[in-house]
Amino acid sequence: MEQMLAARLHIPSRTLRIEEVAKPEPGPGQVLVKVEAAGVCLSDVHLIDGTLTPLLLRGDTVTLGHEVSGTIAGTGPGVTRWTPGQRVVLYAGEIREGVTYTRGVDYDGGWAEYALSSEHALTELPAAIPFDQGAIIPDAVSTPWGAITVTGAVKPAEAVGVWGVGGLGVHAVQLLRTVGAYPVVAIDPNPTARERALAQGADLALDSADPALRERIREATGGAGLAAAFDFAGVPAVRAQALSVLAAKGRLVLVGLTDQPLTVADGTRFSYLQQQILGHYGSDMPVALPQLLSLIQGGRLDFSASISGELPLAQAAEAVERLENKTGDPIRLILRP
Ligand SMILES: NC(=O)c1ccc[n+]([C@@H]2O[C@H](COP(=O)([O-])OP(=O)(O)OC[C@H]3O[C@@H](n4cnc5c(N)ncnc54)[C@H](O)[C@@H]3O)[C@@H](O)[C@H]2O)c1
Repeated sequence: MEQMLAARLHIPSRTLRIEEVAKPEPGPGQVLVKVEAAGVCLSDVHLIDGTLTPLLLRGDTVTLGHEVSGTIAGTGPGVTRWTPGQRVVLYAGEIREGVTYTRGVDYDGGWAEYALSSEHALTELPAAIPFDQGAIIPDAVSTPWGAITVTGAVKPAEAVGVWGVGGLGVHAVQLLRTVGAYPVVAIDPNPTARERALAQGADLALDSADPALRERIREATGGAGLAAAFDFAGVPAVRAQALSVLAAKGRLVLVGLTDQPLTVADGTRFSYLQQQILGHYGSDMPVALPQLLSLIQGGRLDFSASISGELPLAQAAEAVERLENKTGDPIRLILRP
């Protein structure tokens, strides 16, 4: 049986190992993809540190990686829509019988030489878009896109705040400009992240530790506060801070993941102002990916500045550590099998 390399996480011990495993065979309705690029997300860090646990995984070990691009290497019985050699982006998850399964969490992902996909859970990657940028679209770009356009339903000229301008948040800034939000306020304790947010189109970038943060946001929004606030950090303090500067009828959208409780300090104020807190997860990929790929191809969006470095698959642990410790302030690191 042919073998391949894969970076696999043993869930009970949270041990990440590069292992030789059997190269998968595509079954009926499946395709085999030769992985060209796979992104490293803070969710991978959380899976390894134990703050995130797969809910639907069968067995106790999973190949990580939910941001994956590659080429079709083979097709299973009955697959007619894909042919070997086509460039593709894999969806970061699949809906099976109404339940969302996340790639690299609930089933094997793309930190491997090859990955399997349902023939319906991938889309063609145009030749003009490199594999590294293609890889990050299914999550680091498309998750904020879904949060902005669907869950947060941001309208033109609405004042918005982005907490956490890392891998997802910096793209949120770019996407909020694309949909015409104004002003776009970025909030992050990391000065490099704030500079980057300004370079990508934020109107204002604030330090989350700034004692005058509330006043500055009030000033920037003509006293009204934010129509929409986005947590792209997954930090409980962010939620309290965002609620304190949310306008009447404002929406707080929670994209960052944390296992800590969600608290509303003043329930009466929250109800009186008719505010909303909305959970967000992933995106509707059959809709979002073609939209984003078309905006990139048309020159409206460019994520070339988001690829902070590339490492061979064998150095997956080092890539995780660099993202966790913000070594070199990466936006997205890419693994190349
Ligand atoms: N809901 C989803 O579908 C989904 C998908 C992917 C990732 N996530 C989650 O989104 C979050 C962000 O992921 P990422 O890969 O962009 O991470 P990242 O590490 O690249 O970025 C996180 C950013 O948050 C900033 N931050 C930390 N504390 C802050 C604070 N108090 N206020 C403001 N900013 C703060 C950091 O400085 C950093 O710039 C993670 O929690 C991840 O698990 C959720």
